[in-house]
Amino acid sequence: MSDSREYDVIIWGASSFTGRLVAEFYLNTYGLDGELKWAMAGRNQAKLEEVRAELGNTDVPILIGNSHDAASLKELVSKTKVICTTVGPYALYGSELVAACVEAGTDYCDLAGETQWIRRMIDQHHERAQETGARIVHCCGFDSIPSDMGTYFIQKKAKELKGEYAKAVKVRVKSMKGGASGGTIASINNVLAEVAEDKALFKLLNNPYTLNPRDAMTGDDKPDLRSVKFDEDADSFMMPFIMAAINTRVVRRSHALAGFPYGKDFTYDETMMTGKGLSGRMKGFGGLLGLAAMLGGKPGGLYKKLTAKFLPAPGEGPSKSEREAGFWKYLVIAKMRDGSLLKGFVSGDRDPGYGSTSKMLGEAAACLALDKDKTPELKGMLTPSTALGDALLERLQQKAGLKFEVRS
Ligand SMILES: NC(=O)c1ccc[n+]([C@@H]2O[C@H](COP(=O)([O-])OP(=O)(O)OC[C@H]3O[C@@H](n4cnc5c(N)ncnc54)[C@H](OP(=O)(O)O)[C@@H]3O)[C@@H](O)[C@H]2O)c1
Repeated sequence: MSDSREYDVIIWGASSFTGRLVAEFYLNTYGLDGELKWAMAGRNQAKLEEVRAELGNTDVPILIGNSHDAASLKELVSKTKVICTTVGPYALYGSELVAACVEAGTDYCDLAGETQWIRRMIDQHHERAQETGARIVHCCGFDSIPSDMGTYFIQKKAKELKGEYAKAVKVRVKSMKGGASGGTIASINNVLAEVAEDKALFKLLNNPYTLNPRDAMTGDDKPDLRSVKFDEDADSFMMPFIMAAINTRVVRRSHALAGFPYGKDFTYDETMMTGKGLSGRMKGFGGLLGLAAMLGGKPGGLYKKLTAKFLPAPGEGPSKSEREAGFWKYLVIAKMRDGSLLKGFVSGDRDPGYGSTSKMLGEAAACLALDKDKTPELKGMLTPSTALGDALLERLQQKAGLKFEVRS
């Protein structure tokens, strides 16, 4: 890729709920004429001007295109080293953009958690992206940076402190506070609608190795938890975590792309802690009911239509005060081959889905644009840890409010 591109990063979908937060984060962190040259892009000039007014800086460049207009995308991706996109559901609006980046050798990062679509993008583009040199990195928000980088971190520490990698890593969601946006609800509903229409897709999504290279889709991992169970290592009951469906697949793809450094028998799983004793167990069952209420109902059916009235519409999401009062914390447990444990924490200082996610995505894009000499050599359809490794770990801690710690 030529270094003469006009921008380091273009935020595609800067008028979205999350894109606005990324733009605000960039302006506050990098200004306009600093080390990172960035612009906002989208389909609607008036809306982007409104974002610019909210930012209080009329000099932020604006570019116009449309997700379904290949010529506009080709022009857009030729102007920048990195496309950072918040235009979702990605399965509806993202495919042409990925194709344009792959062809132009433009690096790319997004917030997709739509496993079925990511699988399609890998199948269609991995080899071509390796040829053109593009690094396409899905899942650069709350799903799946904390899980992927948390595993990368604890395994580095295991090697450093215990002399070898752990045989298993478990992530347990210890606490979190935040809400959802309309774009996220639309993305979840779109996955459910696709699965309802295609039984083969349902089977593929249940495979623990959904996102692995096609010749490496087996191993010792079990399906995601679907009940309430006690975990001795975390000393807590646990219930299913909705995002394990994408996060576990991303961690396993990272391991495969890295060449299985932790051993072919390495396993990874992810659940939510609900506490000890009767209250922990009851909280777990309450959580199961909540999940059923959220995911239940036929796509387009009466139940979905009724519940939609209580959920945010596209463009809406948690308020500034809700984002600032939010937080999240993961317990990361590495189980060594001799049975001993190494425990650590990964945490963030804002609500997971937006305040924290916008900073994680912004730093992933900045890392792609500015840290090429510090990141791994891999090209193609990558994951956060395999594309960006230590350079991202450093940025997340220095600029995105994340903490990675080992418990002594
Ligand atoms: N992984 C995570 O942790 C995480 C966290 C947050 C969000 N997300 C994902 O991020 C995505 C965005 O969520 P959100 O709530 O911020 O979305 P949103 O507010 O609903 O915004 C969607 C954006 O898509 C744009 N768009 C729609 N059709 C387009 C087209 N044909 N051409 C160009 N732009 C088009 C809209 O443009 P207009 O403004 O012009 O209408 C808008 O900017 C969702 O897929 C969500 O699931 C993931």
